This record gives sequence, C-alpha cells and structure tokens, in this order.
Amino acid sequence: MTTKVSIDGLIQDEAAAMIPVTDRGFLYGDSVYEVVRTYGGKPFALTEHLDRLHQSAARLSISLPEGLEPISRDIHATLDAAGHPESYVRAIITRGSGPIGLDPGLADRPRRVVIVAPFQPLPALWYDEGVSIHLVVTGRSGGPTLVAGAKSGNYLVNVLALGVARAQGAHEAILVDHDERVTEGATSNLFLVSDGELLTPPLSAGILEGITRHKVFGLAAAAGYPVHEKVIHRRELLSADEIFLTSTLREILPVQRVDDQQVGSGCPGPMSRRLLEEYRVAALA
Ligand SMILES: Cc1ncc(COP(=O)(O)O)c(C=O)c1O
Repeated sequence: MTTKVSIDGLIQDEAAAMIPVTDRGFLYGDSVYEVVRTYGGKPFALTEHLDRLHQSAARLSISLPEGLEPISRDIHATLDAAGHPESYVRAIITRGSGPIGLDPGLADRPRRVVIVAPFQPLPALWYDEGVSIHLVVTGRSGGPTLVAGAKSGNYLVNVLALGVARAQGAHEAILVDHDERVTEGATSNLFLVSDGELLTPPLSAGILEGITRHKVFGLAAAAGYPVHEKVIHRRELLSADEIFLTSTLREILPVQRVDDQQVGSGCPGPMSRRLLEEYRVAALA
C-alpha cells in the first residue's frame, strides 16, 4: 500500500511528490496543518479539522480566497486514489514560495499538500496497560505568542521535548511552563481525574484546542462526569487517580507512569476506559 500525495491537486506517489526548496513551510515552518484519521474509510470529524485549519490560516494571515473547498476536494480525491482500508491524512497549507526572506509578503500563493498513508493502529497493549509520560519544562512555540491557538508547522519546541522524553523511555513529553503549570503534550492534550472530576488545562495555558479534547467534553457530559478547565500544577499529576492523553491518532490513551511514579492503581482507570469505549463507538457511528 503506497502513500499518495496531492500537491495543489496533483496526486502522485510519495516518492515522486516534490515541493520547491523555497517553500516557506520548509524554510520557516510558515504553514498550518491538520491530521485526520479515517474510521470505516471515512475521515472522522473532518468539518472540525477543516474549521481549525481555516482558523489557523487566518491566525497566520495566510489568505485562502477560495476557502476550504480546494483542500477538502484534495483530501477526498487523495483518499480515493490511495484506497487504503483506513488512512492517516495530513493536510497542509503553506504560505507558498517566493524570494528568500522573512517578510510574509514575499509569497502570495499558498500551496496545498495532502499526504494519505495507510493508518497504523497504536499497539493494543498501550490501551490495556497505559503509557508513560515525561515532564519537560519549557515554553511552547504556540504558547502566548503571535501564533497562539494556531496549529502551525512550527513544532521545534515540541520536537525537542519529545526527544528528551524518548531518551527517558517515555511515550510522550508533557510541556510544563516556567511556573510549573502543565500545558499539553508534544502532540496531545492531557486530562486527569481527581476526586471523581475530570480536569484539563484551560486554553489560556497556551494549548492547542484539541478536537479530541472537545469530543471528550461531550462524552463526559453525556456520561455524567463533571469536567473543569483548570490550571494544573505539576504536583497535581502525581496525586491524580487517572491521567489520559487525547489526540486524533491516540484517541484516549491512559497514562500509567509520570516519570518514575505510578498513576493511581497503575492500570487504566474506569473513566479513561469508559471514555475510550464511547469515543470509539462515536467515531465508528
Ligand atoms: C500540540 C498539540 N496539542 C494537542 C493535540 C491534539 O489535538 P487533536 O485532538 O485535535 O488531534 C495535538 C495534535 O496533534 C497537538 O499537536
């Protein structure tokens, strides 16, 4: 099964797909993107992802005169061309190419790229036993800056934090700010369960408004679990009954260890398990 790539609507095999080295996504991370996965062959929560792509582009003042219709068309055409049973979809809009220079006015034609690869499910054991996370103290590239709230292609802080976490044998890095407040994972949002309540950092922590995070709010409300957006201090993670990560690719992934400390009873707790079950039912509906 080959990975298919669409560049401005031209679909090719991955090996043949090329973009110019002057593309600002390559030079500066001057781009926005979304990752979507399919369930039953259909892209899940595509409208929400396209809306967020639009908002991210607006945040970076990347103008999309034709709106989302072209990238939406590219996503569907590339999925059809790839023909995988389940797919990973990465949709990217870069500011495009131009003379080299930081001035965003040097490029005036955004470039659309869609990558469709076979979806590789995460190991079932991770859901049965939970994963480990490592806390990394840092600011976040998308934090309280001009880029705040956008899912931009500039992920260097997250890349380096994940490198630190992986060197410690952890699955995910959790970015903790200089005031010891928990923000989010390198590519995930974080929830904890304490005294029967679900807690998650607020958007004002400079985190990405995850689409899975938002779905969890709905599922928790339906299940009668109280959810609060609240500033979370790193020490609260150590006394949590349950912790889980949310992201498009992970769905709801229980956390077993924070650094060298066990979370709760050491195995996925009842809220994490129930929310995962319900999330999967909703995704397949
Ligand atoms: C920094 C960051 N936070 C949170 C998330 C989770 O977002 P979503 O649930 O929309 O996949 C991601 C996903 O890639 C991310 O990169």
